[in-house]
Amino acid sequence: MKQIIAPVLAAASLLAIGATARAQEVVKVGLIAPMTGPQAAAGRQMVAGAKLYMALNGNTVAGKKIELLVRDDTGVADVTRRLAQELIVNDKAAVISGFGLTPLAIAVGPLITQAKVPAVIMVAGTASIVASSPYFVRVSFTLPQQTAPGAEWAAANGIKTVVSMVSDYGPGLDAQNAFKAKFEEKGGKVLEQLRAPLVNPDFAPFLQRAKDLKPDALMVFVPAPVAGSVMRQVLDRGFPEAKIKVVGPGDAFDDEQLNAMGDGVLGSVTSYNYSAAHDSAENKKFVAEYRKANNETRPNVIAVGGYDGMHAIYAALAKTNGDSTGPKLIEAFKGLSWESPRGPLTIDAQTREPVQNIYIRRVERKDGELYHIEFATYPNQKP
Ligand code: DHB
Repeated sequence: MKQIIAPVLAAASLLAIGATARAQEVVKVGLIAPMTGPQAAAGRQMVAGAKLYMALNGNTVAGKKIELLVRDDTGVADVTRRLAQELIVNDKAAVISGFGLTPLAIAVGPLITQAKVPAVIMVAGTASIVASSPYFVRVSFTLPQQTAPGAEWAAANGIKTVVSMVSDYGPGLDAQNAFKAKFEEKGGKVLEQLRAPLVNPDFAPFLQRAKDLKPDALMVFVPAPVAGSVMRQVLDRGFPEAKIKVVGPGDAFDDEQLNAMGDGVLGSVTSYNYSAAHDSAENKKFVAEYRKANNETRPNVIAVGGYDGMHAIYAALAKTNGDSTGPKLIEAFKGLSWESPRGPLTIDAQTREPVQNIYIRRVERKDGELYHIEFATYPNQKP
């Protein structure tokens, strides 16, 4: 009896060890993005950026196979939270990522804190998000970071009065407050701060009010997927003819939609962390490969967020030598530094926030297309 059982047990335990070893060889990365609904463009761009990074850099890090699990939250926070829970509990994802809108990121904070699973923010830009959990890390931007340099530039370049109009939620309020603080510190005056609903916005009454106040410039923030529709209304309402400039962070002048906005946006000056025209070898390669893989569409800030988010995950895993346990992995994100298509990017070791250049750019025609041409740099801006 003994002689028979022993080899069977030995074989069984060998099988068990084999299964464990195989299971450990895969690191699952959840990517939760709005693939449908009004923010679907953000999901498409984020996933395209993440997949491009994997296509160009392989799917193995420190001997572990990286498996990307894409989930569609439709842009609804309750869905984001449920998908995050499923990814962590059922799929055993080592890290989750994505978050195409601020409320979608905020929704997973308590969950990742409890589960000790890092969450990499590829888009959401409200300043307060990352401090709400020790397991958040952000590769995108914050709105105060994006906005303040542009406010300073506007004040120094003949713009004395501004009306601001933003989407009425976290990043909009952050942009509005940051613009007003910097612009007025530099001697300008914000005449009025207008807020349009995030969902199904009708900008018409706000734009009419802004125009009636006759400011030198209108400062606009909307989430990038809404850029085309807000700018069409701004141009249709005759802001250029009334000599009212449009300023602010680059979201309302989204790179993917810029060409379709037409010549009415020529000369517009905004501040932002990324332009598809950023002049570097990394960006030229990124833009060319992205266009090839995505029907010749132009990458934007969200695509770069997906790309850099995957880079951060690869680099953190390489640093832990493939150890994907949450507390080790979150430590490894701190202090990462690399050359992104946007320029140099560092994850601040204390705050887990992106430190990056913010560029002042002007819309110009180049090779027959409209581009944001960077002409001044505010280096290494902290959020
Ligand atoms: C947010 C979303 C965007 O699409 C954007 O361009 C900036 C901020 C957000 O919800 O935080």
